[in-house]
Amino acid sequence: MALTDAQMKPTFISMLDYLNEHLEKDPVYDWILQETRVRGIPEMNITPEQGRILNLLARLVNARKILEVGTLSGFSGVWMARALPPDGRLITCEVNPRHAQLAADSFAQAGVADKVEMHVGPAMETLSGLDLDGDLDMVFIDADKPNNWGYFAYAEEHTRSGGLIVVDNIFLNGKIVTAANDYMRDLDAFNRHVFAKYGDNALSIPFYKKEEDNLDGMLVVRVP
Ligand SMILES: C[S@@+](CC[C@H](N)C(=O)[O-])C[C@H]1O[C@@H](n2cnc3c(N)ncnc32)[C@H](O)[C@@H]1O
Repeated sequence: MALTDAQMKPTFISMLDYLNEHLEKDPVYDWILQETRVRGIPEMNITPEQGRILNLLARLVNARKILEVGTLSGFSGVWMARALPPDGRLITCEVNPRHAQLAADSFAQAGVADKVEMHVGPAMETLSGLDLDGDLDMVFIDADKPNNWGYFAYAEEHTRSGGLIVVDNIFLNGKIVTAANDYMRDLDAFNRHVFAKYGDNALSIPFYKKEEDNLDGMLVVRVP
């Protein structure tokens, strides 16, 4: 029998709890989330399920060099840095120094600090001066949404063929389907642009964030 609307949310939550209970998990991720709360930093991190996806995607494309835009507390960064080989490099951009300080602590706590290069400042400025030393294998965009256009264009220019560009929150908690204001219309236009340009090289992975009761999607594009 199909689930009723009322059963849907508790079912989502129990499935996530089931995964949390049964999938292997490093305590460093709980440390990061706890420290995020203790330091009063917004809990805007991706979900653990998204972290697993990013980690596996990075390994599937044999990523050696990953760019992240929007570090926050380093939660997604640790998931991706863990996928890199010992000489791999995660370049991550964060505008807020308090967030960057926690991220630095998280990278140290996770034992990946030697693979991470963090840049503190507005990401568009950082990117314009970045020395990549070769193409990127993967990019994860998760910062100020109006700049998705610029971040994505940079990623397109600098990601190797067969690499991945991932963009978080493309539905703005579902609001994007109504596109009711300029902010939403702009993100809607961005999504449509990417879908039209990349065809079957683009997909969206849905996710549910129980802390926010937030249903959203993570765009994944394979660079042809
Ligand atoms: C949604 S959070 C990132 C979450 C992180 N990727 C995770 O899942 O753990 C967005 C972050 O982008 C940062 N940010 C916002 N605008 C930015 C900009 N113009 N340049 C760099 N970082 C920015 C915010 O300070 C915030 O820490």
